[in-house]
Amino acid sequence: MRVLLTGGAGFIGTHVLAALHADGHDVRVVDGLLPNVHRVPPPRPACDEFIHGDLRDPEVAAAALRDVDVVCHQAALVGRGKEILEAPEYAGCNDLATAVLLAAMARAGVRRLVHASSVVVYGENRYRCPRDGTVTPGPRSVADLDAGRFEPPCPRCGGTIELIPSDEDTAPDPRNVYGATKLAQEHLVSAWAREVGGIAVSLRYHNVYGPGMPLESAYSGVASTFRSAIEKGQAPRVFEDGGPRRDFVHVEDVAAANLAALHHDRRGMRVYNVATGEPRPIIDLAAALSAAAGTPAPVITGEYRLGDARHIVATPERIKRELGWSPRTDFETGVKAFAAQPMRG
Ligand SMILES: NC(=O)c1ccc[n+]([C@@H]2O[C@H](COP(=O)([O-])OP(=O)(O)OC[C@H]3O[C@@H](n4cnc5c(N)ncnc54)[C@H](O)[C@@H]3O)[C@@H](O)[C@H]2O)c1
Repeated sequence: MRVLLTGGAGFIGTHVLAALHADGHDVRVVDGLLPNVHRVPPPRPACDEFIHGDLRDPEVAAAALRDVDVVCHQAALVGRGKEILEAPEYAGCNDLATAVLLAAMARAGVRRLVHASSVVVYGENRYRCPRDGTVTPGPRSVADLDAGRFEPPCPRCGGTIELIPSDEDTAPDPRNVYGATKLAQEHLVSAWAREVGGIAVSLRYHNVYGPGMPLESAYSGVASTFRSAIEKGQAPRVFEDGGPRRDFVHVEDVAAANLAALHHDRRGMRVYNVATGEPRPIIDLAAALSAAAGTPAPVITGEYRLGDARHIVATPERIKRELGWSPRTDFETGVKAFAAQPMRG
């Protein structure tokens, strides 16, 4: 197929590009090489054709779509950034750019889309309370966090609750600007698919890690933060009590999920979690990385970030069942290798 890959100069895009080539596709990449994302200008992506342009520009989107069969849309501004101060930039890169792309696809008659969404659309998990049944805790209070009470209590009775993994039918509840813009992307994709009769897959990636991940910046996730500490020979600093659970999925498995999604052929939009289904407390990641690199053991700091969910855990059963995708890289193997692999500047 002739594929337009947006964001193909980025961390995940680079791996998706390699997977598309290995599968025999022709790939045109469009990427704005955003200076706040690429502090060091990246090498030109090894694609069949590269357009250096910003998808917020309708002319760039129209040119990029010429003779394309399918779009694989990775371009976005990721991470937490500077929150509300950067909301216009997030809404621009993630939502305006997606809207411009979708309108251009409607005009060009391109009817197939694979879209990179994120686990951040979920917010805090649902929980089971022995007294009140299924509950969804609201944001944790500053008083609780300051006192080191990190596990969310039952929002009704205040008692101890037990986590329920999310599935794709769980109501989204993004807790920060980035999450809100990723959910808005999904809504735009869904509206596009309905209106033009398109085939769209939104892949909700969990915490992606692997070679080429950017070094720590205002936009990085926890895997990059820990790995960056190790790069400097320092102990990773682990927030809260080290107990927040995340699902760390290897970037090559994410690229493989994009390939699997290319062949989805049901009209409308379908959402899938891209996760291992084996979440880990973040202390496990920090400890495995420092052990593999032989650097100082992690330090648990008790710090926290407002707006972080305590646990983000979701099941990958749907993508396994419907697209035949399964993760191939287990946590121990992937993290051990990642401890020594190159990062992006
Ligand atoms: N990294 C993760 O753990 C993770 C987790 C969940 C979802 N995702 C999603 O995966 C996708 C790829 O993320 P990544 O980690 O590779 O990010 P990245 O920052 O490494 O790459 C994104 C690329 O998109 C480009 N870009 C951004 N806005 C653009 C615009 N308006 N026009 C043209 N190019 C633009 C950037 O220059 C960059 O090269 C994103 O959609 C992100 O939301 C990432």
